[in-house]
Amino acid sequence: SDCLGVSPEGHLTIGGCDTVALAAKYGTPAYVMDEGNIRQNCRQFKASIDEYYDGNGLVLYASKAFSCKEIYRVVASEGLGADVVSGGELYTALKAGFPADRIYFHGNNKTREELIMALDAGVHRIVVDNLTELAVLDKLAKEKGKVVDILFRIKPGIDAHTHAFIRTGQIDSKFGLALENGEAMEAVREALSFQNVNLAGLHCHIGSQIHEIEPFELAAEVMLTFIKKIFDETGFLVKELNLGGGFGIKYTDEDRPQKYTAYMQRVSTVVKKKAAQFGLPVPFVLIEPGRSIVAPAGITLYTVGAVKEIAGVRNYVSIDGGMVDNPRYALYKSSYEVLVANRAADPKDYMATIAGRCCESGDLIQENARIQKPAPGDIVAVLATGAYNYSMASNYNRIPRPPVVFVKDGESRVVVKRESFEDLVQNDL
Ligand code: LLP
Repeated sequence: SDCLGVSPEGHLTIGGCDTVALAAKYGTPAYVMDEGNIRQNCRQFKASIDEYYDGNGLVLYASKAFSCKEIYRVVASEGLGADVVSGGELYTALKAGFPADRIYFHGNNKTREELIMALDAGVHRIVVDNLTELAVLDKLAKEKGKVVDILFRIKPGIDAHTHAFIRTGQIDSKFGLALENGEAMEAVREALSFQNVNLAGLHCHIGSQIHEIEPFELAAEVMLTFIKKIFDETGFLVKELNLGGGFGIKYTDEDRPQKYTAYMQRVSTVVKKKAAQFGLPVPFVLIEPGRSIVAPAGITLYTVGAVKEIAGVRNYVSIDGGMVDNPRYALYKSSYEVLVANRAADPKDYMATIAGRCCESGDLIQENARIQKPAPGDIVAVLATGAYNYSMASNYNRIPRPPVVFVKDGESRVVVKRESFEDLVQNDL
């Protein structure tokens, strides 16, 4: 990521700050994120959607990737909206002063309490996942004397055989309404007949960490075709289309994601071409990037403990964090670039398995990674951890969560404090 560098002493830097000094100041483990990089990513997405949809679009930050008060403030100040998926994310956004009229509330099984919370807050759109939720929401809105603007989550059913990286098959996905059996059309007819919901548009999301553009083009085509079908069968014109997130980022040199400007250009071409072919106006288009806004901006700093060299097997480098602060290797075998931050200019000539401190063998951050040869007390940096790390962290083994430190132009500040032991027991009776 372009927010990283190496100082004259050979220390890794982020946002103009020396990571070894950051580790000394804030302790380890610590998440460090470059606010400048986050803002730049927000601006690039915004400029690109404005350009390709002629000012007729909006970027929502998918806050599941990284949620705390400060990120909602940063994203709001950049003019983006936010996608929230739970009462907790909604609460955090509202507490941070995020404007409710730029909040989109997702989720495949929102509770009654969450729906009431969203109605009371006046979120801009509730993305309805299924017919049960539609009926509950209409009733709740009626009780409050409100009409709520909704989007329907549609399963575009991109052929998983053609695009194996999309894990959700046509029928076999827990998210959204199916097109192929008429379920989505039934939902549209019901929404049109209900008094307290207003069908503002449609939504789809095809997956995450996707490097190719073609499946996004296919999804856009499927959605425009459904908009046409709705128009033909009911006379109702869908005016808003949310195409979801999922843009891949570069974790290691193996990853070759497409530039999202290329995505925007090609997908907008499909949207406009299909609209013209069907004789319909181009809808207002939204996208929901999460990972691509925050992942490249973040790193995690750890301190090396013991190094165990098991002859002919492998070298275990123990760090003071692990699956508690980054469960992605344990869950998905995700690749990461790792380096020794205080020897960043040295050659990466040592094979290391980075092991966490939790009581289980699967608690690894990376296996057989090429890093600089480490010694106890060194600082290890894992790169591109800004998304789905802090937001997926746990307190397994009663380990307190690390702090989140924002850096920008050589300055640093804590935006989430390190958890204390006292925090860990505060709800224990
Ligand atoms: N919109 C919806 C409806 C989503 O479900 C998601 C991600 C996004 C937007 C944002 O996608 P992104 O741009 O971040 O790819 N925990 C996994 C990722 C799960 C993504 C879930 N949905 C991981 O660590 O890789």
